[in-house]
Amino acid sequence: MTETSATVEKLAPIEDVGGVAQPLLQVNGLTKHFPVRGDFLSARKTVRAVDNVSFAVMKGETVGIVGESGCGKSTTARLLMHLMSRDAGEIIYDGMQVGRAFSLRELRRGMQMVFQDSYASLNPRLTIEESIAFGPKVHGMADGAARALARELLGKVGLRPENFANRYPHEISGGQRQRVNIARALALSPRLVILDEAVSALDKSVEAQVLNLLADLKGEFGLTYLFISHDLNVVRYISDRVLVMYLGEVVELGPVDEVWDSPAHPYTRALLAAMPSSDPDNRTQTPPISGDPPNPIDPPSGCRFHTRCPFAEPLCANATPKLFPLGKMGHQAACYMAIPGSGHSRAPAKEQEAI
Ligand SMILES: Nc1ncnc2c1ncn2[C@@H]1O[C@H](COP(=O)(O)OP(=O)(O)O)[C@@H](O)[C@H]1O
Ligand code: SF4
Ligand SMILES: [Mg+2]
Repeated sequence: MTETSATVEKLAPIEDVGGVAQPLLQVNGLTKHFPVRGDFLSARKTVRAVDNVSFAVMKGETVGIVGESGCGKSTTARLLMHLMSRDAGEIIYDGMQVGRAFSLRELRRGMQMVFQDSYASLNPRLTIEESIAFGPKVHGMADGAARALARELLGKVGLRPENFANRYPHEISGGQRQRVNIARALALSPRLVILDEAVSALDKSVEAQVLNLLADLKGEFGLTYLFISHDLNVVRYISDRVLVMYLGEVVELGPVDEVWDSPAHPYTRALLAAMPSSDPDNRTQTPPISGDPPNPIDPPSGCRFHTRCPFAEPLCANATPKLFPLGKMGHQAACYMAIPGSGHSRAPAKEQEAI
């Protein structure tokens, strides 16, 4: 028998404080550097995994984060979840400073994460029902109510509770385990769900089903997503806006169609040009971008892309270009070619000041 939602107890979602105009998440100057040992002759080195990253996620939005492996996507996600400490920066949830006005305990309900490894969050000794019920119980729900909620959520993620509730994680497929992880996240009534390569390990057909499920759940539960993936086709399909990261920095951001149709940063253009077509008969085999692969250990000075950029000029190595608004719907890029009067030969002329 499947319980009806009317009889199933749920954790109350963290209340909306600021209304629709206030971002659900505001990140300012987020920074994480990892010290790494060089060889015995060289000095200590630093991985600038996330460097002065700022962005906002509006309520109900899906924001994608793209960029090559190692550019800092997962570190950003872990910092947001407070799974590791940051070196600098602010994380503001619905107008509240996390750690001050908003406790970490509240944050762990208001923000949930699904990882690429579908085993990562599941205790192999707990049944699927117990795994989903675990979080609500930690937050004070009685065992029976938490199990009823778990069974209801199994139905919501497309797994019949009578077939799945009493199974163990190793007894189900990767796609089914990711559905369980989604149910586990939803059990805490989060408003923001961070999906870090959550569909990347799945076969294409299973991936498409889980993406459709995520789209349905977003509407039903009023969720906001931060969707991290190296797969640009998937990010375009699911996101409203996108951030492009390169070696720990955001180099371009904006509405996904705007960025795809008129990419302003040469790195974004290179990523899009190298994108495998979703049509299997039209797959390109071009390597992503020429030049050395990115290494966030002691990254290049100035614009970090200058060592690979076909348009690099001497000024590019001197100072870091800031994100500059391109005039349309919040589209911004950090490239001297997009900044009027920057001194780059391809930059537009600076507009005359009004007299
Ligand atoms: N705990 C850690 N210690 C040292 N370096 C790390 C650690 N975690 C991540 N890194 C490094 O930080 C960089 C960014 O990693 P990550 O955020 O996982 O990138 P992405 O998710 O975009 O592939 C990589 O160079 C990675 O090797
Ligand atoms: S700032 Fe210079 S090096 Fe960087 S992307 Fe723009 S043109 Fe290329
Ligand atoms: Mg990652």
